Amino acid sequence: MSSFSRREFMRRSSLGAAGLGLLLNGRWVPLEATPLPPPASPNDRVNVGFIGFGIRGNILLEAVKQTGQANLVAVSDCYQGHLTRAKERTEGKIETNLAQYKALLERKDIDAVLLAPPDHWHLQMVVDALSAGKDVYIEKPMTYRIEDGPKMIEAAQGNNRVVQVGSQGRSSALQKKAREIVASGELGKVTKIVASYNRNSSTGAWNYPIPPDLKNDVNFNWQEWLGSAPKHAFDPERVFRYRKYWDYSGGISTDLFVHLITSIHFIMDAKMPSRVVAAGGILNRKDGREVPDTLDALFEYPEEFNVNMGSTFNNASTPEQGMMFLGTKGSLTLLGNSFSVAAENPREGYSYSIDSWPKSLQEEFLNMDNHREEANPPIRLEGTVTYKDQGADATLLHMLEFLDCVRSRKECSENAEVGHRAAAAGHMVNLSYLSGKRMVWDAASGTARGA
Ligand SMILES: NC(=O)c1ccc[n+]([C@@H]2O[C@H](COP(=O)([O-])OP(=O)(O)OC[C@H]3O[C@@H](n4cnc5c(N)ncnc54)[C@H](O)[C@@H]3O)[C@@H](O)[C@H]2O)c1
Repeated sequence: MSSFSRREFMRRSSLGAAGLGLLLNGRWVPLEATPLPPPASPNDRVNVGFIGFGIRGNILLEAVKQTGQANLVAVSDCYQGHLTRAKERTEGKIETNLAQYKALLERKDIDAVLLAPPDHWHLQMVVDALSAGKDVYIEKPMTYRIEDGPKMIEAAQGNNRVVQVGSQGRSSALQKKAREIVASGELGKVTKIVASYNRNSSTGAWNYPIPPDLKNDVNFNWQEWLGSAPKHAFDPERVFRYRKYWDYSGGISTDLFVHLITSIHFIMDAKMPSRVVAAGGILNRKDGREVPDTLDALFEYPEEFNVNMGSTFNNASTPEQGMMFLGTKGSLTLLGNSFSVAAENPREGYSYSIDSWPKSLQEEFLNMDNHREEANPPIRLEGTVTYKDQGADATLLHMLEFLDCVRSRKECSENAEVGHRAAAAGHMVNLSYLSGKRMVWDAASGTARGA
């Protein structure tokens, strides 16, 4: 089996009993696609610039093109190859600058900027862009450290600018429907969520290819790339595989968990965990990385639910990316672009606990109140319902919302406060992993302390 079909097979198998229910008596419900606006006329479009044009920057540019709501004005990056690619994607139209993002921010013909640099640049670029009067789409994780968040929130408010943070999943029709179902009470009280993000490939573990033409001071600017990060000799590995190093990234927690955390906050209408504890390590990929290749975290929320979140880069046979919301009346399992809802069928185990009583007493007890019915509830025949998202891609919807907010001056759904809290929860995971302590969130001061 190819790795893809094997992954698909395992993904389907991992549906387990829910998958079987689907085959037996399940129902598919296609979700209604969010309607897309018609393309705007060139004068009504938002003029955008891009800073950081690597893997994600390219995806953002394609999403912006699809919206039909923006003019692509300029791009800045530290690597000439990425600028050449920007030209290719825009029929040579976009203007490029090598390692001078401030010059891009000075342009009066740019309304909004899309920022996708490594995490250690997020604070500086967001504050610079907001201070220059630009609206900002900043990739997740919004922050590199917890204390960056309030500075970014203040800069957004002080400059009266729009901010959208890029954990796009929450803009999908799927997650909006999941939120609706949780709020409706259909699942009863959700007290536990299990979420995972697993991989088993070298590129999945962030060993991204390094372009063979890369030459510092010729087609790349290492000093600009480093910015305020600790001094280090030029190292292409650090540039293209930066997620492996604490100086530029928070690893699994801030790269991957932050997506799950953002979705959980959205679907559960929750703000911030009160306590977080984590464990993990570099258990297999001993390739010079500093961040763990396996990480597990437990989050406690004041809204009375727990989250059990895990990731490994050494086995992908559990769902690559999935979340299960476990309620007293039902479970919602979200995998890929669909989720299934399966009803609980709780029964009371009286026979086990009254078997030591005299027979007549057992009968008397079962005839009391609803005991016999509670022990033998009717089987729910409705089975599993699976909702399938066939609408637009989440990044496109998230971008459309941003561009709409730029024009209407409305607040984006994933504004700086929302982005700060999701990233802060991710940072608490790392603080716990590194200190061996349980981290407690102090809402009054907006800080985390070890306990
Ligand atoms: N929302 C998502 O699903 C998603 C997916 C992937 C990445 N991301 C996020 O996007 C960001 C970038 O990730 P990536 O995978 O694209 O990394 P990448 O390394 O491919 O791209 C980052 C780019 O930023 C450029 N850069 C660095 N410093 C710069 C500076 N001072 N001026 C201009 N350009 C500079 C680099 O040259 C590089 O091309 C990260 O924060 C990451 O978490 C989000």
